[in-house]
Amino acid sequence: MGKTGTKKAEPKSTRPAGPTQRIPLRITDTTLRDAHQSLWATRMRGKDILEIIDTIDSVGYYSLEVWGGATFDVCLRFLRENPWDRLRKIKERAKKTPLQMLLRGQNILGYRNYPDDLLEHFVALACENGVDIFRIFDALNDTRNLEHAIECVKKYGGHAQGTLSYTISPVHTVEEYVRCAREQVQIGIDSLCIKDMAGILSPISAEKLVSALVKEIKVPIQLHCHATSGMAIASYVEGVRAGAGAIDCAISPMAGYQSQPPVETMLAIFDEMPYHATLNMDALNEICRFFLKLKKERGATMHQPENVIDPDILRHHIPGGMISNLRSQLEGQGALDKIDQVFEELPRVRKDLGYPPLVTPTSQIIGIQAVMNVLAGKRYEMVPQEIKDYVKGLYGRPPARIDPQVKRKILGNEKCVTGRPADLLKPMLPTAASEVDPKLIQSEEDIISYCLFPEPALEYFRWRAMPVEDRPTPPAELELKKAAGQPTQVHNDVPVPIAKPFLPHEEYQSLHGLLEKVDSLGFSELTIRRNDLAFSLKGKTISYADAEEGQAEEPAFSSPETATSATPVEPPAEKKQEEAGPSINSPLSGTFYATPAGGKPPFVAVGDTVEAGTTVCTVEAMKLFNEVKASGKCKIVEILLKHGSPVQKDQPIIKIELLD
Ligand code: CO
Repeated sequence: MGKTGTKKAEPKSTRPAGPTQRIPLRITDTTLRDAHQSLWATRMRGKDILEIIDTIDSVGYYSLEVWGGATFDVCLRFLRENPWDRLRKIKERAKKTPLQMLLRGQNILGYRNYPDDLLEHFVALACENGVDIFRIFDALNDTRNLEHAIECVKKYGGHAQGTLSYTISPVHTVEEYVRCAREQVQIGIDSLCIKDMAGILSPISAEKLVSALVKEIKVPIQLHCHATSGMAIASYVEGVRAGAGAIDCAISPMAGYQSQPPVETMLAIFDEMPYHATLNMDALNEICRFFLKLKKERGATMHQPENVIDPDILRHHIPGGMISNLRSQLEGQGALDKIDQVFEELPRVRKDLGYPPLVTPTSQIIGIQAVMNVLAGKRYEMVPQEIKDYVKGLYGRPPARIDPQVKRKILGNEKCVTGRPADLLKPMLPTAASEVDPKLIQSEEDIISYCLFPEPALEYFRWRAMPVEDRPTPPAELELKKAAGQPTQVHNDVPVPIAKPFLPHEEYQSLHGLLEKVDSLGFSELTIRRNDLAFSLKGKTISYADAEEGQAEEPAFSSPETATSATPVEPPAEKKQEEAGPSINSPLSGTFYATPAGGKPPFVAVGDTVEAGTTVCTVEAMKLFNEVKASGKCKIVEILLKHGSPVQKDQPIIKIELLD
């Protein structure tokens, strides 16, 4: 590493070690997981990785983050790759460097809690297939959502790294983080990661937090920062000076903005400090050239940041991706002019709901509630099921108390869950195997893939079972062709139907299923970005061609359904004419469903008499299902829309006769 600038005299005693003392610094490379999840919509292929893995393995990194997060889902859904195969192939080649994965605690790789039996089996197989270090986090920092994962990792011989999901709020004090860390240490973590997913950890906060942790707990501390606000490099320097022994970096072409800081920069900085990582510079150079070339090949399908950093995040700490997502949701509702009101409402909702860190899935549900409050003109008048579940405690314990009035308004007399949410879940494995055609299953790992992502796993299994020459082009390759302006309608490009969006199917009736789709579009585990516009567009009276139009500037991120028009274009709402007489109208633009989530029978039938407050249907909008209620006692005269058809805001849905 070249020395730059004029050397000044080393100031005395301001650093924990003298300049002659060398303190080893461990560097984890995130290039093969977080970096491409954050910058490339998780579209790195297994073959890309295998082309360069030997060189990466020779660098001298502390560990390589190569698995978990959204990679698993994207492998199945978009790349038609077996994620377990990818892991095994990397492990076969990377003999020197431990492999790391990101595990969402009890959520495993998804967006809801899974039962303990599935988590244990997943961890056992991940260990067997090559994961050495498990970084385990929970969006709410609820230790109860981490404990089983930590115990399982220890049981199967892995390194269990605990995590603090970093956010800023009045209750997220240094003391509170230390308390969380202590709980994790008691369960047996081997190290602890400070996970700054939004890139808002300032250098001074890093220094304070790391200093306190180093003093209070005895496990090594690692920093994981995103460069979104531009502070990460400085925060690493201060964090390391305060005692963090490890940092996460990516190779420069895959670094910066929503990814990690570049490894080359960090080495140059630490080169003149007592901390040092002995990395092979020639190998880094080769890796850099490899990814520069790959970036060019894939360029057309890549999201290009509009700015070198995201300055908005410094103002209100709302992750940049979340802002663009809110914007697209409001656009979908024809209410973009209300965006400033939503920005004002969002911190209030977050406060009401106990200051959850804005991380998937909480970022999505808090954001939507703010939008709902603004659109409805009344707070908590429209409340999606996911918010009810959150308030009920099904996601875990919020960092602070939920406002009692808001709680009463949302839950009524319903009781909250006070125990560990996963205790309510029945084992999944005993029935899972019998649900899949045995001809499609090749290994035990397949069953786990199916349990985590049933639809995409089945699509992949069916694709895999075809003779090679008959297999349709994987969606990710179609994206690439489309972006490069190549024709995509040749025989093999006709895609197998991808998971059905917004059909009354159990999997897609919940936010979790929808979030899976969103996340698999490739955003880091914390942000959902404007690129999921395709989904919000789905529910509207807008043709897929229109949806495509709206996506034109970012074709890589359009969903395969949108990209290929595999689903026939929905006719616009069939009964648009203003019906005379009273009616129940749609509160939002979206999709009308006559039945409850995942089930039958319809809420109401023609001829029924319903009381005020009775749910008469749901309207899916902005990826959530919203119950529509009768405002007074009435008789159902006619249901004007077909189940599953698009509906506009204020459009009559049900013709009624007012009673009383
Ligand atoms: Co990250």
